[in-house]
Amino acid sequence: MAARTIVDAIKANPEFVLGVATGSTPIKVYAEIAKLVKAENVDVSKVKAFALDEYVGISKDHPESYYQVIKVNVTDQIGLRPENVNTPSPDIKTVATAGADYEAKIKAAGGVDLQILGIGRDGHVGFNEPGSSLASSTRIKTLTQETLEDNARFFDSIDDVPKHCITQGIGTILRAKHLLLLAFGESKAEAIAGALEGAVTSSLPGSAVQLHPHVTAIVDPAAGSKLKNLEYYKWVYENKPSWDAI
Ligand code: F6R
Repeated sequence: MAARTIVDAIKANPEFVLGVATGSTPIKVYAEIAKLVKAENVDVSKVKAFALDEYVGISKDHPESYYQVIKVNVTDQIGLRPENVNTPSPDIKTVATAGADYEAKIKAAGGVDLQILGIGRDGHVGFNEPGSSLASSTRIKTLTQETLEDNARFFDSIDDVPKHCITQGIGTILRAKHLLLLAFGESKAEAIAGALEGAVTSSLPGSAVQLHPHVTAIVDPAAGSKLKNLEYYKWVYENKPSWDAI
C-alpha cells in the first residue's frame, strides 16, 4: 500500500520530494517501490529525497551511516540521481550549521511532499527523543539508552553506536505535506497507541502526528493491538469513500 501510494504520487508529479526514514521498518517499502518503478517504467530522474536523520561523527563510508543505508536502499535500488538525495551532514566540524543548512535545502526543494516515518519503542520519530520540542527544526540530539540498545543490532557492540545524531525536528516533519507512519510488530504497539490515540505530548514525540492535517498510518495487527478504536478504524477503512473524492 505504501509503495503504491508513493509510486502513483511520483507518476502524478515527476518532481516529487520524498522524505525517507532509515531503520528496518521501511526497507520492504523501498524494495517494492523499486520493483514498481522498473515494472511500470516510471521516470524518477527528477525525484528528490531527504533523509530524516544521520549519526554525528560517523564517516559517510561507514556501512551503518544513514548516508550509506539510504544510498543502498533508496538511491541505488530505486534509481534516484545521487545529486537529488540528501542526508544531513555527519561531519563534526560543521555540526553547528548543519541543521540550518539542511532546513534551507528542504525549503529550496519546495518542501517534502510525503514523509515516511517509523517510530521508536520510546515514541521517537526521526531521532526526536522524548522531551523534544514539538516545534523543533533540524538540530543535534543525544540518543536515549533505549535507542542505543535498539540500534546496537546494526553495530558490532552498543559502544560503537554513535550517541549523537542530527535529525529533522518535529516542526520540520510537520511541514511535510503528507505523513506516512509505518509500524510493524508487538514492540511498537505501545508507541502506536500513544502516538495515535494518546495525549499530544513531547514525552511521546510521535503523538505530534495528531497535529498534522494529512496522516496515513499503516500498522500490522501486532503493532495495532493496543489501539482502543481499532474496530472503528476497520469500519472506516471498509466504508471509505472513493479516494478520488478526497
Ligand atoms: C530512522 C528514524 C527512526 C526509526 C525508528 C524505528 O531514520 O528516523 O525514527 O524510524 O527508530 O526504527 P526501526 O524501523 O528500525 O524499528
